[in-house]
Amino acid sequence: MASLLPCTTTPRPSSRPLFPKPSHFITNAKCTPRLRVSCQSQNQNNASNSQNVEGKVDRRNVLFGLGAGLSAANLVSTQAPASANPIQPPVLDKCGVATNLNTGEQLDINCCPPVTERIIDYRLPPVFQMKIRPSAHRVSPEYIFKYNMAIDRMRRLPKDDPRSFMQQANIHCAYCNGAYDQAGQGTLDLQVHNSWLFFPFHRWYLYFYERILGKLIGDPTFALPFWNWDNPKGMTIPPMFVDPKAAIYDSKRNQANLPPAVIDLGMTGNTDPLQVVSNNLTIMYSEMIRSNADVFDFMGQPYREGTAVNPGPGSSERGSHTAVHVWVGDPREKSGENLGNFYSAGRDPLFYCHHGNVDRMWTLWQYYLPSNKVPEKRITDPDFLNAAFVFYDENAQLVRVTVKDCLDNLRMGYDYERIDLPWLDYRPPPQTAKARIIRTASTAPLASTLFPLKLEGVVRFQVPKTKKGKADELLVLENITVDATKFLKFDVFVNDEDDNASELDKAAYAGTYAQVPHKAEKKTGTSTIRLKLTDLYDDMDIADDDTIVVTLVPRHQGPGVTIGGIKIIEAPPKADAAAAAAAAPSS
Ligand code: C2O
Repeated sequence: MASLLPCTTTPRPSSRPLFPKPSHFITNAKCTPRLRVSCQSQNQNNASNSQNVEGKVDRRNVLFGLGAGLSAANLVSTQAPASANPIQPPVLDKCGVATNLNTGEQLDINCCPPVTERIIDYRLPPVFQMKIRPSAHRVSPEYIFKYNMAIDRMRRLPKDDPRSFMQQANIHCAYCNGAYDQAGQGTLDLQVHNSWLFFPFHRWYLYFYERILGKLIGDPTFALPFWNWDNPKGMTIPPMFVDPKAAIYDSKRNQANLPPAVIDLGMTGNTDPLQVVSNNLTIMYSEMIRSNADVFDFMGQPYREGTAVNPGPGSSERGSHTAVHVWVGDPREKSGENLGNFYSAGRDPLFYCHHGNVDRMWTLWQYYLPSNKVPEKRITDPDFLNAAFVFYDENAQLVRVTVKDCLDNLRMGYDYERIDLPWLDYRPPPQTAKARIIRTASTAPLASTLFPLKLEGVVRFQVPKTKKGKADELLVLENITVDATKFLKFDVFVNDEDDNASELDKAAYAGTYAQVPHKAEKKTGTSTIRLKLTDLYDDMDIADDDTIVVTLVPRHQGPGVTIGGIKIIEAPPKADAAAAAAAAPSS
């Protein structure tokens, strides 16, 4: 609907703009504050309902040529069908001890929810009034009051009420710290990160959290705020969270990163706030648009029952999402609590606000980004659509939900306040001269002589292209294994100099791998990520070369990352890409 459109509704030029340095930004404030959007119930969907109150055609239908009620499961699949083994909800009475992901120690808290025999298959209720989630930097005093009242009431619920503050926080602990096994799969852990389950799981989590808060204050229209960290106006911790008297306050945060500190999504350590803002916008552009060749590059890799955890995080999960967790987490705490560790993240109300924006990125990516920038937006694999979780709803009933029911936020009854997207055209300026010098002067060793590579410092090497003149290629980093007890991150540059790696707003920046620490698994898979090079070649005028020079720059101290291999492949045609992705990663 219209509320996801940015201020400029005319298509942005796809030609390459020239960007000023960061000091030249001007960002717009919001253009239209809160749109009231009418919405039909799921049973009333039809083409005539796909108009909003202003009589404008729903953009989604224009983009997809679909009726609003067409479920993703009904779409003709261009993706190869896979064996039918979607991830199923955990069995609650088999919930076990969770592990501190940073230290590997067993946690002395019990993350497990109360056990209930009765599980209801959840049906999305009809939507009578759309909830509009507001930007946390723009909320009114009345909103802040109401929000605090709701959290305060949640904190006062009896400990064993599944809707209470700690029980809600523990949902994240249980689903992310190895408390659950995959149903019927012996010792294989259930993990909702580092795969295609990342967006859907957290969407449902926030959905019920929001409904519980609304119920506690008797306001079914209550909507969670989102932390607008992708816009320069939202790149500090939202002020309402740092009032020590507020119910939404949490003392376990990095004190050096309280406002006015500017969030460093690149974790480069650059101390110039304007440069950091520019880095952030570059990262957003990269992870939303530039580095993704297919839907899995954004969403995360397939994860099915019976396969090992962590097949590979999507660009958004491993990028901005991870950075915000680690940036807020408190270095005075043993394991970066609260936000810097999965088991404790849900104890900071800021977590849900952060994930509001993560979820907003999914909606923007699905429904706003033009299809010439984002090739494919839906996963039609039944193992994705039929994956399921359980949550307690606002009435403390245990409900079973599926991924296919959460693909459309409007059907779930909420949308996001409309805010400008300054990263949307933040393509880095061309860098042809520098690229030319690097490629002629490089004496870097061939990648084949270095891999598998233990990444312990900056490393630079040459990687042959698939063929000279072939522009549409992907850089594949295979079998990345990480020490689960550490935060790890590295950035990837192509044909770059290494003396200014804390500036990311340049064509040479190809992408990032990073993750929040997570448990050393009984059986851990390795991750593979892919970075699309098409725009990068273009911006650096190196499509016709036969080799590129890759630099890997770790952002953490010491060892912990091993990369099995690196290679360039031709971007597969769509159907092939889907078939490759449909094959389950081996366990
Ligand atoms: Cu489940 Cu941001 O983590």
